[in-house]
Amino acid sequence: MLVTGGAGYIGSHAAKALARAGHQVVVFDNLVAGHREAVKYGEFIKGDILDTAAVRSAMASHRVNAVMHFAAYLDVGESVREPAKYYRNNVVGALSVLEAMAAESVDTFVFSSTCATYGEPTETPITEAHPQRPINSYGESKLAIERALPYYERAYGMCAIALRYFNAAGADPEGELGEDHSPEIHVIPRAIDASGGGDGLQVFGDDYPTPDGTCLRDYIHVSDLADAHVRALEVLVDTRKPGAYNLGTGQPQSVRDVIGAVERVTGQKVPWTLAPRRAGDPAMLFASADKARAELGWTPRLPSIDAIVRTAWAWRQAHPGGYAG
Ligand SMILES: NC(=O)c1ccc[n+]([C@@H]2O[C@H](COP(=O)([O-])OP(=O)(O)OC[C@H]3O[C@@H](n4cnc5c(N)ncnc54)[C@H](O)[C@@H]3O)[C@@H](O)[C@H]2O)c1
Repeated sequence: MLVTGGAGYIGSHAAKALARAGHQVVVFDNLVAGHREAVKYGEFIKGDILDTAAVRSAMASHRVNAVMHFAAYLDVGESVREPAKYYRNNVVGALSVLEAMAAESVDTFVFSSTCATYGEPTETPITEAHPQRPINSYGESKLAIERALPYYERAYGMCAIALRYFNAAGADPEGELGEDHSPEIHVIPRAIDASGGGDGLQVFGDDYPTPDGTCLRDYIHVSDLADAHVRALEVLVDTRKPGAYNLGTGQPQSVRDVIGAVERVTGQKVPWTLAPRRAGDPAMLFASADKARAELGWTPRLPSIDAIVRTAWAWRQAHPGGYAG
């Protein structure tokens, strides 16, 4: 298995799940956002996915027969300010990986996609049949690859599954891996940091048409995501049936709910201030993951927000400075 972006948050958890399931893992990452210390399972190759020759060489030298592609940029706000950066890394980079696969006859691909490909939802929960109309270049960059996949499958005999994650959260329950983004853009680690006396949390808007006025999101534990990847790979190898699957719990939580969970788990207040709504933030995003349950046999094992926050909190306490500290 070649795991691009395997030194990052979700990829490192997936590498662990793959190794535990008996797969041989090779992590390929340029460490632009990842951490060498996060590669605890499998061999590490430092390289850039835009370097097709380097990706090919990693595949050939390790007799790779499948790829999980996590390497990408993922900050929605940044993608609005710097679309070129997102098209280059997320579109050109992914096409480079697919080109290397075609050249090396690697035919199995699991792709990190996102609920951002749906854009503003017209109905919730969101099923895989919901129209995909992204409202930022991040979502567009992922959708461009989803749309390319059927053509690559037909022409090069590949088979691919796209996994559309909702909000990845939490940390390895065994405490080996966790979230270490810089800057941190996700609400749970930010709320945890705020509870410890860091900068207060900003809540973007409290006048949405939701029960408490703050946005509703679907938080899915990172180890449950990792488990879904292993299942997707195994189903793909067995059935050769391409497809796309939502990965979420289907249980939406508001920003106020997240603050409440962090306060319960840490026993500390989360100071927060109200900030204006952010452009392009839908009021509610949550998944129907029925297809993944039915076809991948996947069920989230840590669906509760308190359980998710507990693992994130344990990681933060053990690693206050992230992997470096
Ligand atoms: N975190 C979420 O909530 C979320 C939600 C939906 C989808 N996703 C997708 O999941 C994937 C992983 O997200 P994450 O949260 O683990 O992000 P991350 O930033 O922690 O991990 C991405 C990894 O890819 C590496 N990388 C980036 N560009 C590279 C390049 N050109 N060559 C080699 N390596 C490169 C980075 O160094 C990093 O280790 C991304 O594709 C993201 O779009 C994440």
